[in-house]
Amino acid sequence: MAGMSTTRVPLIAGNWKMNLDHLQSIAFVQKLAWSLKDAKHGFASVEVAVFPPFTDLRSVQTLISADKLELKFGGQDLSAYDSGAYTGEISGAFLKALDCDYVIIGHSERRTLHHETDEEIGAKVTAAIKHGLVPVLCVGETADDLETHGPSAVPVAQLKAALATAAKGVDIVVAYEPVWAIGSGKAATPAQAEQVAAALRVALVDLIGQEAADATRILYGGSVKASNIAGFMREPNVDGALVGGASLDLSEFSSIAQFQKHVGT
Ligand code: 13P
Repeated sequence: MAGMSTTRVPLIAGNWKMNLDHLQSIAFVQKLAWSLKDAKHGFASVEVAVFPPFTDLRSVQTLISADKLELKFGGQDLSAYDSGAYTGEISGAFLKALDCDYVIIGHSERRTLHHETDEEIGAKVTAAIKHGLVPVLCVGETADDLETHGPSAVPVAQLKAALATAAKGVDIVVAYEPVWAIGSGKAATPAQAEQVAAALRVALVDLIGQEAADATRILYGGSVKASNIAGFMREPNVDGALVGGASLDLSEFSSIAQFQKHVGT
């Protein structure tokens, strides 16, 4: 069975969306680091990453590097282009120059509010990889899609479109975020998340090869909280979470990152 032979280091990722300015980002990351240190968090067994707004990234980079924190970070989007006349856009090269590890691509809010197409999202994935960033590729169905097409058809189609030209063996993270679960307080059930994550992993085998598919972290996102993370993490194909609202609450996010301590509660 896919995924059985590889151990994947879980990833707990906080997507701040358009919250916290650069001063607030410094205070938050500092407190998060203290909180995880107090809890003796093992970063080798659970990776923790934050995704602040672009204007915070330099501050977050400076803090993480000065204090030698083990937190990872990334941008919430990037341009498909390297440089040039693209007013308001941010190049993957700039994110890499700020030591970003990751970049979120194709979040449902960008698909909806910025009309990003599968084709553009695919071009952004290519750009991220070119600049040495690991894409956190978001896929997910709306409530209507779920009713019309069933649970995994739309997320799998989005994955195939975004990775159509991806090379075998690429290092990516996939985030399954059902649109109906984002910010709604109505999370998917662990079984629902597992069903789609398993289908995504099967599709990944064709797209990027067996070995890379086994190594790919598939995150669940949508109303994740400290009180429901453990259920998701018990599922074999769910390797972490992309957390929105709860990532802005220090004790919640810290507790989500420590899910290993409350698996079984
Ligand atoms: P919430 O955790 O607020 O539902 O948001 C999920 C999300 O969109 C993360 O990218």
